[in-house]
Amino acid sequence: MVQPRPRKDPERNFPAQCGQKKGGNNVAKRKKEEDEDMGKVAIYPGSFDPITYGHIDIVERALEIFDKVIVAIAENEEKRPLFSVEERLQMVRAFFKDIPKVMVDSFKGLLVDYVAKTNAIVILRGLRATSDFEYEFHMASMNRSLNTHLDTLFMMTSKDYFFVSSRTIKEVARLGGGVEGLVPDLVVRRLKEKFKLPVTKKKQMGWDD
Ligand code: PNS
Repeated sequence: MVQPRPRKDPERNFPAQCGQKKGGNNVAKRKKEEDEDMGKVAIYPGSFDPITYGHIDIVERALEIFDKVIVAIAENEEKRPLFSVEERLQMVRAFFKDIPKVMVDSFKGLLVDYVAKTNAIVILRGLRATSDFEYEFHMASMNRSLNTHLDTLFMMTSKDYFFVSSRTIKEVARLGGGVEGLVPDLVVRRLKEKFKLPVTKKKQMGWDD
């Protein structure tokens, strides 16, 4: 028998059984009220391990549509990230430091719970190729089932970066390949530090700075 859909929690626009704590979160509520005059806000969530110019291109194009973009770094230790959340926050913040319309934050737990604490109207994701589609479709559908008022907006990655992913950047950097031009300079430096390439390899790569 088809089960009736759960009653919505009127305070949060969520089905009541979605794992959120009952009752109002006053801090979040206040933050949301403060944000009320921010205009159209989009959340751009991801692991950003590390941030690439593909991600940055999406944020820059989103700023032409939205008044504010929140880059939300997921604290997901299960994914065994190369960079700690603090390192990722620092790299992303450094890049966007002169763009007040970009806010950089991190979150733990469900994305829909984090979104509810902000004034965002949409989740933003980049799509590189059809191979991304299935994963993104599942994620967007799950998020929409958790909060039926929340949409995911997809932007096609620019043709210059469609082959760039954090995973391949890490692999290339780990094996001593150059990733300049695909990630910000600070990220290049942090990758070099992480992988501590031997001096000979650094010389060969012109990295002996
Ligand atoms: O850059 P990524 O790794 O593709 O980003 C994935 C991310 C962080 C957006 C996704 O894993 C996420 O939203 N994690 C938070 C946990 C959550 O809400 N999961 C339910 C959605 S399926």
